[in-house]
Amino acid sequence: NKHTFISNLIRKMTLEEKIGQLNLLTSDMDVTGPFMKPGYKKDIEAGLCGAVFNAYTPQYTRQLQEMALKTRLKIPLLFGYDVIHGHKTIFPIPLGEACTWDMSLMEQSARAAAVEASADGLQWTFSPMVDIARDPRWGRVAEGVGEDTWYGVQVAKAKVKGYQGNDLSASNTILACVKHFALYGAVEAGRDYNTVDMSRRQMFQYYLPPYKAAIDAGVATVMTSFNEVDGIPATGNKWLMTDLLRKQWGFKGFVVTDYTAINEMIAHGIVKNEYEAGELSFNAGVDMDMQGSVFAGQMKKLLQDKKITQAAIDTAVYRILSAKYDLGLFTDPFRYCDTARARKEIMNTENLELARKVAERSIVLLKNDNQLLPLKKEAKIALIGPLADSKRDMIGNWSAAGDYTKAATLLEGLKARGANVEYLPGAHYAADTTLIKRALQKARLDASDTADAAPMLAAAVELAKRSDVVVMALGETQGMTGEAASRSNISIPENQQQLLKAVYATGKPVVLVLMNGRPLTLEWEDAHIPSILETWWLGTKAGNAIASVLFGDYNPAGKITMTFPRTTGQIPIYYNHKNTGRPQDPNNKYSSKYLDNVNEPLYPFGYGLSYTKFTYGSIALSKQQITKADKLQVSIPVTNSGNYDGEEVVQLYIRDLVGSATRPVKELKGFKKLMLKKGETQTVMFEISAEDLKFYDKDMKWTAEPGDFMVFIGGNSRDVQSAGFILK
Ligand code: IFM
Repeated sequence: NKHTFISNLIRKMTLEEKIGQLNLLTSDMDVTGPFMKPGYKKDIEAGLCGAVFNAYTPQYTRQLQEMALKTRLKIPLLFGYDVIHGHKTIFPIPLGEACTWDMSLMEQSARAAAVEASADGLQWTFSPMVDIARDPRWGRVAEGVGEDTWYGVQVAKAKVKGYQGNDLSASNTILACVKHFALYGAVEAGRDYNTVDMSRRQMFQYYLPPYKAAIDAGVATVMTSFNEVDGIPATGNKWLMTDLLRKQWGFKGFVVTDYTAINEMIAHGIVKNEYEAGELSFNAGVDMDMQGSVFAGQMKKLLQDKKITQAAIDTAVYRILSAKYDLGLFTDPFRYCDTARARKEIMNTENLELARKVAERSIVLLKNDNQLLPLKKEAKIALIGPLADSKRDMIGNWSAAGDYTKAATLLEGLKARGANVEYLPGAHYAADTTLIKRALQKARLDASDTADAAPMLAAAVELAKRSDVVVMALGETQGMTGEAASRSNISIPENQQQLLKAVYATGKPVVLVLMNGRPLTLEWEDAHIPSILETWWLGTKAGNAIASVLFGDYNPAGKITMTFPRTTGQIPIYYNHKNTGRPQDPNNKYSSKYLDNVNEPLYPFGYGLSYTKFTYGSIALSKQQITKADKLQVSIPVTNSGNYDGEEVVQLYIRDLVGSATRPVKELKGFKKLMLKKGETQTVMFEISAEDLKFYDKDMKWTAEPGDFMVFIGGNSRDVQSAGFILK
């Protein structure tokens, strides 16, 4: 059996071979961090490398696996990769996909990604990222599902299930890796890799539950984060990785660091050198060193000096070999390197169809005055903007193995749909380089940009004038959000704003199609542009999905899971904030507010429109009071009172009015996604029990306290119906 097999194997291993299993090295096929180690093949040949990342394809992984199998004990390699939103068939970025509010779809896209990745030589994805984030300046918000803990928990479970299935020994399931443990989403000022400082209450109440949910769902691996947690870098934090993760949560898999995170503890100022970094991280609970080669370089000496124990090394090796065993790698090390299977599974019709479906459902209609959308079939469309025909940007960031040449742009999607479209090529308006240049020069307007822009603006205005409607594809190029892509100003780049304003001034109706990886500040756009469609980076079928929504083949139903601020100065901004002792009051100078703007965001959490209209009736409660053993039935009639069939995400929030520790003004506790025919009414029913009312009380006990509660139901976190009840 497994235990005997692995124990016997460990008995045969030399110390070097054991340390080798704890060593994860990148291949040179892809770059996902600051330094490369060119000699990784030598380490494989010498049996000093247990796992490789950034290497895929059946051919390449077979070649590396063959090297590993020539070593003394023939221990197969494990191949990991950032399969973040699809492998070759790219799905919307996670923040976009989250807008579907469809757990089954989110599980299916992870399943499809696992099938493709495992057919392409991989057995391990560095996903899901479940970091709760309230700061859209942080570029990595694109990879998470936004600001809400309860929602993050549901998605974490769905993703782990999708990747790992029910059986890791099936050749089309892969190990998931929940990351970044922990609190990476709370970096100060939204600057990547920055410091995190947070109270235990905040951690346990809001930031830790999604990681815990992934552990409970059986996630096989955990990745440490770059940030510190309570003054100790996560990668050297024993409380985090041993007391909490292993002892309290019962995690049984292995812990891998993020890229060179052990080495970076020197820069953090917690250790003097790699020797100390190795000691701190290993004793804290790290099993595998990603790309830092600290374990490889220091462990032998650490053991000689009795800084670490042989038993702990054996335990870490055991965990890693156990994962390889579960995957069936000892039975057949080449089971993931089958070219025929790769041809059959990768980017097949089914996956592409799924990608289109998810993409359509991820689109959020932010504004639609006078029902400008859907477009009329015969409308003469002017298509303008740097993102209208940019394949690379369609698949977004962290689309690692994604083949962008196969992605459909908006121009292609419109043409495929037979639209009467005239396109103004505008690629030089792409903002990446301009933005970086601006940041470096700290200049608001760069003369060369303006010079570039002038003929472009004139051509855009001309084209707009001879059309019925203008569709403008603006936002961020894929490099503007993601890892190491924080922004201190999250508006549409200035040169694109100029373009938008020039076209708007023609008086032609404008549909703004946004493509971006984070919430943007859109105050001017919202005040002037009649229709705004948030399309994120939708993946391989982006252009088809957007075209289908523009023409109303699919009626948009996405709802944002991260608040869109009005200005950067409002950040951090999130719907489940506390009330404070001096809640905002326009008539009271000494209340919690801004002088130059309202507190409220532009688009609240849960917000998104449809081509039809949904009308909510009043909430009915089965009782006014419940005991801790009861269930409260809460129902509300929802009517499709508009002109189209459509879907609506009906959201349930609660508020605990008085707690022994302060409570947020609203907390999401449930939702139902409905399909309503035009004119149809359905009564939606939710059930609330004491379990939904629990929180960390003044003594950090997870409990529901008796008292008054409010329940809110609506189509977003702002526009809700409400009712009160009592927990006895
Ligand atoms: O998985 C990623 C992580 O999210 C950020 N640093 C690099 C890792 C491996 O590519």
